[in-house]
Amino acid sequence: MREQPSDLAARFEAVYEKNRDPWGLETRFYERRKRALSIASLPRERYGRAFEIGCSIGVMTEQIAQRVDDLLAVDVSPRAVAEARGRLVSLAHVRAECQEVPHDWPSGLFELITVSEVGFFMGADGLKQAAGLTAASLTQDGHVLLCHWRHPMSGWELNGDDVHRIFIEHSGLKVICEHLERDFRIDVLARETMPR
Ligand SMILES: C[S@@+](CC[C@H](N)C(=O)[O-])C[C@H]1O[C@@H](n2cnc3c(N)ncnc32)[C@H](O)[C@@H]1O
Repeated sequence: MREQPSDLAARFEAVYEKNRDPWGLETRFYERRKRALSIASLPRERYGRAFEIGCSIGVMTEQIAQRVDDLLAVDVSPRAVAEARGRLVSLAHVRAECQEVPHDWPSGLFELITVSEVGFFMGADGLKQAAGLTAASLTQDGHVLLCHWRHPMSGWELNGDDVHRIFIEHSGLKVICEHLERDFRIDVLARETMPR
């Protein structure tokens, strides 16, 4: 983590200062359903080491935690991370850290990496870098979960379709499971396609 908060960190910190759950992750049916679809899309029942990028206040983290042995969840906003830590305090196999991806990137390999509703905020160059790092950090049989809102977002250059296209191209990974609807898309990636 850098000594000075980045512009991105300051931007999200201001969002969380106004509202501790800015996207209604705890309350909205839309978010609950999207999370349920995301988690249900993971092809394996159990994963070993997992990395969640953009964990916010830890609502999805809690659910990913049920399927993995060890989870590192990161977010650029210290307020969000503090909320996540409070929520996850009883889960000894989960760690929440304040980090900005791709500038910060953990060492070692992961069986599962999740990039949910966060890729747009990295910009195209950051996302390309994150995609390359993801591919390099994924175990041979690992999976990547992508889930993003598809509509234009004011103040941000990429929508969810852009994020998935760029990420897939720059990771070199293959889509093994996809869910597409008007508002969001989910893609699960792996090194090899599965026979259909
Ligand atoms: C919409 S929330 C995503 C919550 C959760 N992943 C989900 O899908 O329900 C986006 C989060 O990403 C964080 N974020 C944005 N850019 C980031 C980056 N480059 N690295 C880490 N976290 C980031 C924000 O602070 C915010 O908490």
